[in-house]
Amino acid sequence: MKTSKKILALILVLVMAVAIYGCGSGGNADQASQPAPESSNGGSAAAEQTEEGKEASDPGQEDGMSETMKKIKESGKIIWGTNAAFPPFEMRKGDEVIGVDAEIAAKIAEKLGVELEVVDMDFDGLINALNANQIDFIGAGFTIKPDREEQVLFTDTYFKAVQTIIVQEGNTEITGATDLEGKTIGVQSGTTGDFVAEEYTEDVVRFGNALEAAIDLKNGRLDAVIVDDLPAKLIVEENPGLVLLDEKAADDEEYALAVRKEAVDLKDIINEVLAELKAGGQIDEWVEEYSFLD
Ligand code: ARG
Repeated sequence: MKTSKKILALILVLVMAVAIYGCGSGGNADQASQPAPESSNGGSAAAEQTEEGKEASDPGQEDGMSETMKKIKESGKIIWGTNAAFPPFEMRKGDEVIGVDAEIAAKIAEKLGVELEVVDMDFDGLINALNANQIDFIGAGFTIKPDREEQVLFTDTYFKAVQTIIVQEGNTEITGATDLEGKTIGVQSGTTGDFVAEEYTEDVVRFGNALEAAIDLKNGRLDAVIVDDLPAKLIVEENPGLVLLDEKAADDEEYALAVRKEAVDLKDIINEVLAELKAGGQIDEWVEEYSFLD
């Protein structure tokens, strides 16, 4: 096919995808086409060209492609699932979702040559949404865990994190992790913070996001909140009266993206994107850039 014909065919597919998608029902999750976030990485175009052969972007080479990859190519879009209440990794800015994972997601779509669509939903529904084909990948400051590994295919890691403990300023009863025994602990439902809290107490209170938990902590309804270190730092900075304990609640964790088990080719492409971003120090730059609460 001549290049001009190819482009024409691609445009046609895109137009059709948009038309088809417009008819679909979005469920109760918040779903929107995501404009590519401003990127400060000037080197990405050059980096992409080096891996061209592996991109599986030739529509004629569908053999051996995962179902997921076929769907992405046919629809001209990839659907990112997240819970956008987790700065600096994802947060809302009007209708848009911004943050480190949003930047990574945009790079993945760019690499595949497709549109990025985002579904902002409950964190504890992400794995099911992925396996029900409602989203194509999870990007949510999502920690690799053995039981999750049974349900999804994780990519390479891109960030280290740890569960931290937030308490009210002046709390003399809880000064370290062991003091959490039997206490009332607030968490975001289904997070690693949730699972860590369960090890300390039966009295775990689950919220839709960590900020809601922090508000209840401030109001004296909780003894502590357990949440990942970077969101915790921002929550404490923005909420006078709350402090972070030096001692961590658990061992270090690592974030990765996740795809369906069958989508090995998508995982490989995401790993290429992550390798480029990590090599360029881009992820740490984005962490800086998005370290704020609205
Ligand atoms: N790292 C934790 C986990 O994987 C919390 C992630 C929460 N992410 C979010 N976007 N709300 O369980």
